[in-house]
Amino acid sequence: MTANARDTAPVLVTGGAGFIGTNLSARLLAGGRQVIVLDNLSRAGVARNLQWLRARHGDRLEFVEGDVRDRALLDKVVGRAGEVFHLAAQVAVTSSLDDPGADFEVNLRGTLNLLEAIRGAGHRPPLVFTSTNKVYGALGDVELEDTGRRYEPSDPELRGRGLGEDRPLDFHSPYGCSKGGADQYVLDYARSYGLDTVVLRMSCIYGPHQCGNEDQGWVAHFLIRALAGEPVTLYGDGLQVRDILYVEDLVDAFLACRDRMPVLRGRAFNMGGGPANAVSLLEVLERIGQLTGHPPRVEHSNWRTGDQRYYVSDTGAFRAASGWAPRVDADEGITRLHDWLREFHVPVTGARREAAAAGSSAA
Ligand SMILES: NC(=O)c1ccc[n+]([C@@H]2O[C@H](COP(=O)([O-])OP(=O)(O)OC[C@H]3O[C@@H](n4cnc5c(N)ncnc54)[C@H](O)[C@@H]3O)[C@@H](O)[C@H]2O)c1
Repeated sequence: MTANARDTAPVLVTGGAGFIGTNLSARLLAGGRQVIVLDNLSRAGVARNLQWLRARHGDRLEFVEGDVRDRALLDKVVGRAGEVFHLAAQVAVTSSLDDPGADFEVNLRGTLNLLEAIRGAGHRPPLVFTSTNKVYGALGDVELEDTGRRYEPSDPELRGRGLGEDRPLDFHSPYGCSKGGADQYVLDYARSYGLDTVVLRMSCIYGPHQCGNEDQGWVAHFLIRALAGEPVTLYGDGLQVRDILYVEDLVDAFLACRDRMPVLRGRAFNMGGGPANAVSLLEVLERIGQLTGHPPRVEHSNWRTGDQRYYVSDTGAFRAASGWAPRVDADEGITRLHDWLREFHVPVTGARREAAAAGSSAA
């Protein structure tokens, strides 16, 4: 495949029926590209995303129901792809603790399968890989202050900039290990075999089409529960902080990776909303209460394994190298997701609406 053909050949999105994959695929399809979504539909609810993509984009979308553990299938599909975005994964820390073998096979073996398929393809399409902030571990050495609403680093520089790529890798949990291992393989395939690869170590992404549940996708999960009048369980004290990034901004970053591949190749970048979009769980619950008109009901439970008390990305390196900047701030993004969920997602029954309206048992 020539460089020109690369630009017109279909884009392969593994995990393309998932939350982020659907948003990425929709953008590519809307721009006139052909997209191959490879997904095994193992995440509950994602079949609806696929139906939505099909209804909007028809024939430009090709769906391959398959698994990244199937090397022969990847060889076939990669052979036709002009570029690859690798999103398919076992995505939850909790599930990885229950079944580390399955987590390993999907996240690490599946990524190696994909890299080998790319290496074996004559045209070697470029690859963007979705890694995670979990590669930096629990960050227990970061000194924090409790402001009453959130944790903040004592170090003003860290508070102002967030955590950079110079943090030592420290894989926690089987999920951290499998994604972190995959992250390192993806970088090494640029070094050892000259592939065009970029790694984004992503913080919390949120937005439409997210099938958020207690194990992954907490902003959507909180909103879905609140809209349904059901309680949210807070693990830990709720002061933990994340820099949330609206999915459309992430899609911009993916496309910047593709467009700036010669500059970015072989590098890993932290990707999130940055200090300007750092929020604690309690602050998000408060915002949800403003949107729904009632404070969500909250139940409390112990901290979960490996949960970081504070994670905020320093996206300075990616901004400098690509010109990217997020455009949707946390308030606006949560409002958009709330509106989307109300319109398209949550079947708010009369009884639930009443329960939400009551809201008096909120903690
Ligand atoms: N959402 C976030 O906040 C976040 C943060 C950091 C990293 N990530 C990474 O981004 C990627 C996408 O996450 P998401 O939030 O869209 O999750 P998601 O669960 O919505 O999407 C993942 C998709 O992969 C599919 N899948 C799972 N196992 C598969 C397999 N063996 N073969 C083929 N398909 C398979 C699922 O059916 C699902 O559609 C994942 O790699 C995840 O680890 C996400």
